[in-house]
Amino acid sequence: MAVKRVGVIGFPVEHSLSPVMHNAAFEALRMDDWYYDAMSIPPDILRLGLREPRNHGYIGINVTVPHKEAIMEYVRPDEKARAIGAVNTVDFRSNIGTNTDADGLINDLVASDVRIRGERVLVLGAGGAARAAVYGLLREGAAVAIVNRTKSRADRLVAQLRASSGLDGAEVMTLDQAADWGMSLIVNCTSVGLHPNIKQSPWIHGLPFPEGVTVYDMVYRPANTALMQQCVAHGGRAIGGLGMLVRQGAIAFELWTGVAPPIDVMYDVLRDALEQATKD
Ligand code: ATR
Repeated sequence: MAVKRVGVIGFPVEHSLSPVMHNAAFEALRMDDWYYDAMSIPPDILRLGLREPRNHGYIGINVTVPHKEAIMEYVRPDEKARAIGAVNTVDFRSNIGTNTDADGLINDLVASDVRIRGERVLVLGAGGAARAAVYGLLREGAAVAIVNRTKSRADRLVAQLRASSGLDGAEVMTLDQAADWGMSLIVNCTSVGLHPNIKQSPWIHGLPFPEGVTVYDMVYRPANTALMQQCVAHGGRAIGGLGMLVRQGAIAFELWTGVAPPIDVMYDVLRDALEQATKD
């Protein structure tokens, strides 16, 4: 039985949770001929490094830090990848590179019954994760405000997104302005609060926290971040980012295999792996 291989490239990539998640899905579906592994490829040899999985019959790969932008040169980026300016999934059969982050976020919000269309949404951050979020949220008809520590980076995000996708309408604000603007949803796309800095929150101390909003925190380690705790303390609803990780992976899984993976199996195995990592 020839093994059908898929995997993730990154540098470093040893801590990636994707192999555990995808292999659990293969196992649950008894897809014994599929296997997902992690490949460490240093940035300076990306082009050469890409030949390895290609020549060894890999069907596709996920792409993680630091290769998501650089790989665009070596694949055919689809509309989503071009809009977000990064590729996180490649299908070697077509050499198309796509980006499943925006849909992963949107699918998780929808699965959590969070309304998007016509809502005011505050995005915290202006890196790659924020660009995917802003793209997805604007596409789904939200009004988006962006707050970032470095304002110029947020301005650049808006300009780049307009140029790459034609999507307009995200407004750059300070956090005070955003608090006055009012929102029903806050999506944290910064790394603030990530383990081990679990006491930190991107909602600065002293500024009243909006009552009754929903927070979606892309940070999933810890499972309950300081921002999520602030939100719940003010009568809101908080959702951690593990579901987005699962759902961006699920889209890639279906692209490669043609089979919809078991979301709950993937979610459970990730939660267990993270709990284990916290104990270690
Ligand atoms: P990613 O590609 O995952 O989005 P990134 O490009 O490194 O990662 O972006 C990290 C985001 O977290 C940025 O918005 C960053 O703010 P700056 O643009 O000002 O650097 C934000 N961030 C990281 N550490 C932060 C901190 N201590 N306080 C506020 N924002 C922070």
